[in-house]
Amino acid sequence: METPPPHPKLASHSGGLPSAVRWAQLLLSDRLGPGDIALDATAGNGHDTLFLCQCVDPTGHVYAMDVQLAAVTETRKRLLESGLSAEQFTVIHAGHETMLEAVAVEHQQKLAGIMFNLGYLPGSDKTVITCTETTLAAVSAALELLKPGGLLTIAVYPGHEGGAQEQKAISEWAAALPPRSFEVQQLRPVNRSASPPECWVIWKSPFSHGK
Ligand SMILES: C[S@@+](CC[C@H](N)C(=O)[O-])C[C@H]1O[C@@H](n2cnc3c(N)ncnc32)[C@H](O)[C@@H]1O
Repeated sequence: METPPPHPKLASHSGGLPSAVRWAQLLLSDRLGPGDIALDATAGNGHDTLFLCQCVDPTGHVYAMDVQLAAVTETRKRLLESGLSAEQFTVIHAGHETMLEAVAVEHQQKLAGIMFNLGYLPGSDKTVITCTETTLAAVSAALELLKPGGLLTIAVYPGHEGGAQEQKAISEWAAALPPRSFEVQQLRPVNRSASPPECWVIWKSPFSHGK
């Protein structure tokens, strides 16, 4: 009997090319390590927060934010049930546009990774959705919080209601970032007729001066 080929690391769950969120996780897992500080700007059910905690475990710290109380509760539960201690994370019930106030002073400009997974929480209230205005404020704040060499990832869903406008705004914002301070890439399928999810990746150059 033939042995099935090993599942490639850089793949979606079906073995195909990585999804937008998978790209984000792969790039972050390559750069985050024990002791790092990270932030999940859209905690939802806590899957991405747990992923970040595992990347920086055991000496790092992860912030997670969400506007929905149910999301914050679920995220805390997931992290504790996964065996993490409460000192390893801070889950905040607030909009990500307030992240500059939410992150401790000693962690400002020290974050190694920040993750956004935009849109609505699958299986919950689809009217609670990220909004272009607050998303733009939050991604700008995120660049301030990153340490030089840090990585910001944004999974964007242009097919969702309001998603096309949010995608356009992210795209214009990202294209205008000064190239000496930031490298920007957009990862997306190009042979699908619908508006597929896409992953934006922004690397803050060590030679970056502020924003
Ligand atoms: C696609 S879901 C995130 C999925 C999540 N990362 C996970 O692993 O389950 C998007 C989340 O963004 C949250 N959200 C919407 N507006 C927000 C805001 N201004 N600040 C923070 N979270 C927000 C929603 O409540 C929702 O939980």
